[in-house]
Amino acid sequence: MHALAFSPLFFQAAMAARNMGVLAAVHAAKDTGLVPAEVAARASVTLYAARVLLEGCLAIQLVALEGGRYRLTPAGELWLFDEMTKVNANFVQDICYAGALHLEESLRTGLPAGLKVFGEWPTIYEGLTQLPPAAQQSWFDFDHFYSDGAFPIAFPKVFAARPERLLDVGGNTGKWALHCLANDPAVEVTVLDHPGQLAQLQANAVVAGLTAHLRTVPMNLLDHALAFPTGFDVVWMSQFLDCFGEPDIAQLLQRGIAALAPGGRLCVMEAFWDRQPNDVAELCLQGTSLYFSCMANGTSRMYHSQDFLELIAGAGLTLVSDEKIGLSHTLLTCVI
Ligand SMILES: C[S@@+](CC[C@H](N)C(=O)[O-])C[C@H]1O[C@@H](n2cnc3c(N)ncnc32)[C@H](O)[C@@H]1O
Repeated sequence: MHALAFSPLFFQAAMAARNMGVLAAVHAAKDTGLVPAEVAARASVTLYAARVLLEGCLAIQLVALEGGRYRLTPAGELWLFDEMTKVNANFVQDICYAGALHLEESLRTGLPAGLKVFGEWPTIYEGLTQLPPAAQQSWFDFDHFYSDGAFPIAFPKVFAARPERLLDVGGNTGKWALHCLANDPAVEVTVLDHPGQLAQLQANAVVAGLTAHLRTVPMNLLDHALAFPTGFDVVWMSQFLDCFGEPDIAQLLQRGIAALAPGGRLCVMEAFWDRQPNDVAELCLQGTSLYFSCMANGTSRMYHSQDFLELIAGAGLTLVSDEKIGLSHTLLTCVI
């Protein structure tokens, strides 16, 4: 329990030890280990800073101490070098940490009370492209890290039936849309999102030379009076519905259904916390729910698969396939 009580301070110590080069100095001397004065000299920090950071990292087992000399542990190596660990840590530090102080207020009000540390938007999505550069980078790195690997696996499944028109709802900066356009020159892709995200998508499409079959429609998707464009063979919602509470998901599914051409399919790709390969992956998703509460919107979370199966059935959709995509994602394909 005491480790939990002090955990925010230890997290900051681990970030500082990483960012100030203290852990890298210890890693570079892995054969001999280093005394604090050597760490201070090599990382160009004061002896005081080296001592408190090394002792803080000792407490959380990122370093080990033997005969007065510090060495990096396997956990310390992960903290320094593992990509997923870095993406998660930067996201928590740059996006969540300051606002997490307002978690209780968020849960009492149903509003993302922590978001005020960045600006006065109703949800984080309106402000995404106006966040400070480091925070914006950490948000996009986090979002992309989890969906990037899933897209190439999902693509052949979604495109086996050669859809001609695909609607990407909440398509963000266009990772999926551009993947589709690059791999099927015949498909037309329409993306719905906030204007800032779509401006970045357009810029990315220009760089990739993929603007010819791309259309973007700026829309606040929480305004359920606004209909989606219609006539699509596939309506695609990837890591999108988890940005909403259940009543909004039900409405978004109805608007997605109305956008389908006869015979069309609605595809939902999500990471469900009950379908993860291990406890650590499950913990990451449960932690992500807390980000949704205090920073993103105050209403959404990472869902249990059963919640989505019920929402899909409640929308009058028939589930035609329920497939695992990579380690973490599930692709639910539905028809009317
Ligand atoms: C978590 S990201 C997922 C992006 C992408 N589909 C993927 O799989 O990586 C959710 C996207 O939905 C968009 N979004 C969330 N709420 C929205 C709203 N009310 N109106 C428009 N777009 C919204 C966000 O801007 C963001 O681009």
